[in-house]
Amino acid sequence: MVDAERFAEYTKTPDSAWNLVEGKVLNYVLERYYKDRFDWLKRKENELIPATITKYDSLIPKDFRVLDIGTGTGNVAHTLVEFGVDPRNIVGLDNDPNMLKTSNHPDGVNKLHAGVQNFVPKLKEEFPGFGNFDMVTANMVFHLLNYGDYVKSLKQIKQVMAERSQLYIMLPHPLREDIHTIAAYHDRRTLDEITPWCEPVEYKVKTINEYKRGLAQAGLNTWKIRTTGADQGLEDNFLLSDEAVWSHIRADTNHLTKAKPPHYFRLWLMASR
Ligand SMILES: C[S@@+](CC[C@H](N)C(=O)[O-])C[C@H]1O[C@@H](n2cnc3c(N)ncnc32)[C@H](O)[C@@H]1O
Repeated sequence: MVDAERFAEYTKTPDSAWNLVEGKVLNYVLERYYKDRFDWLKRKENELIPATITKYDSLIPKDFRVLDIGTGTGNVAHTLVEFGVDPRNIVGLDNDPNMLKTSNHPDGVNKLHAGVQNFVPKLKEEFPGFGNFDMVTANMVFHLLNYGDYVKSLKQIKQVMAERSQLYIMLPHPLREDIHTIAAYHDRRTLDEITPWCEPVEYKVKTINEYKRGLAQAGLNTWKIRTTGADQGLEDNFLLSDEAVWSHIRADTNHLTKAKPPHYFRLWLMASR
């Protein structure tokens, strides 16, 4: 069980993974996503959109809806609201009631207590107006699910994505300097990570190919896959395939000292319907 208050405290510290890496990537993704929408709107209705508009919030349709999977303490929801999404149009989903009880979510965000593997029936029942999301975010969740549940979840998500909707996924990179070992990568065993805010968390290690294959199996189209870390650029292609991971491992079989992966090493993907 997660101690939600301690978790919230941790994510606020300047050197937390959220502040050093995840929040930055989400901001970058949102900026790009809204910029694309802006260009699209400009093309489509250029007589209605004044050229002087610089803020995204005036461009985000009033009914722009986001589903935030594993919404946790509300960090993702906060970023979305800062970008101009109406909190009443966000549904934050989590299977841990403690996390949903935290006060860190922006006022107005809708909370759904459900497991991502089978949330659609409960979503329909509790929020009947929310069948079609314009964006789905899943920050640091799918490494906690085994492959079968990952694919089940993606199939559920696809059912509630609107036609132009995008799915944003962030994960610990399967090769992380702090917890992953060569043997773990090879065997893809379950790993426990001791966290300051809860009992040890089980990491269901999956390879990069499995993350991609799961998306394809659910009928989603992965159009972007990138790595990032505390000391690495957002658009880098560092260890972006299992083959590259293996050659990295083979280059230094004793320990990952030479060219070791960055701190808070992450994999992130974007997928469309
Ligand atoms: C590491 S936290 C990430 C929180 C938040 N997304 C963020 O970026 O700060 C993972 C969250 O996923 C939730 N979670 C784990 N397994 C889940 C599942 N099967 N269905 C829904 N939520 C889940 C946990 O309760 C936790 O709140």
